Amino acid sequence: GAISNREAKEQAAVKVSRLVEDQQVIGVGSGSTAYIALEKIGERIKDEGLDVYAVPTSKEAEMNCALFGLKRTTLTAAKPDWGFDGADEVDNAGRLIKGRGGALFAEKLVMASSPKTYILVDESKYVHKLGEKYAVPVEVDPRAVHLVETKLQDFPCEDIQLRMAAAKDGPVLTEAGNLLLEVRFSDIHDGLEKELSAIPGVIETGLFIGYPVEILTV
Ligand code: A5P
Repeated sequence: GAISNREAKEQAAVKVSRLVEDQQVIGVGSGSTAYIALEKIGERIKDEGLDVYAVPTSKEAEMNCALFGLKRTTLTAAKPDWGFDGADEVDNAGRLIKGRGGALFAEKLVMASSPKTYILVDESKYVHKLGEKYAVPVEVDPRAVHLVETKLQDFPCEDIQLRMAAAKDGPVLTEAGNLLLEVRFSDIHDGLEKELSAIPGVIETGLFIGYPVEILTV
């Protein structure tokens, strides 16, 4: 029979929590699936008296790490042994769209610094074609927003929207104080991530292609 979304997330979370070893440095992703994994890691820390050092990918993740008894470190001070995170879309080649929570910049820095990142997803995240459900978030320095919009006209894209905040009349600002453009591409090829990063003012994109990830699903 069908298992609930929460149950599915919980099974993948338990798998990740079993990988934790004493004294490890772990990249901690954002979102509700990563939260459940963190909760399970917290149980092991409490039961076994482990010392685990977290590199959080957002302020939200940082607070949750404190809540579940992980110690805090940074990418400046330490290199992650491995990490875990969620995703908004995964295709069958393991390519990802991330950034629904707006933490894509730190998520990519942590993923690029980790030899392995476990991506926790339930079946609802799988797509045949990347970009099927979500636009690709592109984090942009506010001074470059018009420049980037103009340069994006050279790409096969169908729609560009500035991400607006739900609770106020203005755009979303990321933790780094940048804007997010939501871009609907008609074709997402492997080189697109690098081509977008080459535009001046693009801080990072929500395309995660070619990183050492292992998709954990149930
Ligand atoms: C955060 O910026 C995103 O990349 C998250 O990893 C993504 O939104 C997954 O969140 P859920 O696990 O809540 O679906």
